[in-house]
Amino acid sequence: FFRHFSSSSSRFGNIKNVTIIGTGLMGAGIAQVAASTGHHVVMVDQTDDILSKSKANIEKSLQRVVKKKYADNPKAGETFIAEVMSRLTTKTDAAAAVKNTDLVIEAIVENLEVKKKLFSSLDKAAPKHTIFTSNTSSIPIKDIAVATQRQDRFGGLHFFNPVPVMKLLEVIRIPATSDETFNTLLAFGKAMDKSTVNCKDTPGFIVNRLLVPYMMEAVRMVERGEASPQDVDTAMKLGAGYPMGPFELTDYVGLDTCKFIIDGWHKKYPDNPLFMPSPLLDKLVSEGKLGNKTGEGFYKHKK
Ligand code: 3HC
Repeated sequence: FFRHFSSSSSRFGNIKNVTIIGTGLMGAGIAQVAASTGHHVVMVDQTDDILSKSKANIEKSLQRVVKKKYADNPKAGETFIAEVMSRLTTKTDAAAAVKNTDLVIEAIVENLEVKKKLFSSLDKAAPKHTIFTSNTSSIPIKDIAVATQRQDRFGGLHFFNPVPVMKLLEVIRIPATSDETFNTLLAFGKAMDKSTVNCKDTPGFIVNRLLVPYMMEAVRMVERGEASPQDVDTAMKLGAGYPMGPFELTDYVGLDTCKFIIDGWHKKYPDNPLFMPSPLLDKLVSEGKLGNKTGEGFYKHKK
């Protein structure tokens, strides 16, 4: 009886069909968790080759999840993985993918013009009720939303890496975001089994506004010759209870990502000492030492 009433996919406020644009580390993690929590997910990326690699990564991550969750019932674990994978479809045409979607989550390259162009075309293709969101960590949501005619149905959903493990979701509203949209996004966060916090559209929202200056100060500390990266990491893990030290975390997040964020903020707020760039970080990035993903950052990693 209830199933009949809840099966509508187009009712505002009830997110069932989700389109995720960009299937890198973040996009794939978001797709995995959305599908794991019963949503139908369309993953969009530039080529079928990228999409099949992303799906393979999701399957690997799901194996890690079920190993623990279904430790005493591996058969149920296999069924769970098959069900999650069956809720994931892929497309290379973003406009076609949003025709029947309740929510778009964009996780593409951090480039304002590229994001605006994408959302402008999606605005014409998506149904009226569809909510648009970005997972950007450094670009103001309102600067992206102006590319659409649906700023009241626009917001930010900022996830954390690794998405299947990190419990937090930052939900960001811009002045134009309607209460109905914001409440729908909060409810979606709960449905994704995440804890949500309400954020304004300020640089770095909550987590990155505190975390990035902390990571940068750790780099400056090493630049000043005050401590080694190893000692800083040991100190923060054992002295402050952080799961990773700031250098392990910078390698994990990507040195290029940290540089991109800090450069953007420094350009906008040149007088804020917390947002000063670092010559050491710039040097490592210019040498292609971007962290775990390239095999070397502040540390050498097994690829
Ligand atoms: N998929 C599924 N499961 C995963 C996973 C993945 N990609 N990565 C880790 N896990 C699981 C493991 O299977 C393990 O599960 P278990 O406890 O049930 O066995 C659990 O997570 C812990 O993993 P490990 O034992 O391999 O290693 P750790 O205990 O060292 O934990 C970590 C790894 C969860 C990454 C932990 O070190 C951590 O929390 N680090 C900090 C991460 C962080 O701060 N992220 C935020 C970065 S900022 C950001 O993302 C914002 C962006 O805008 C820059």
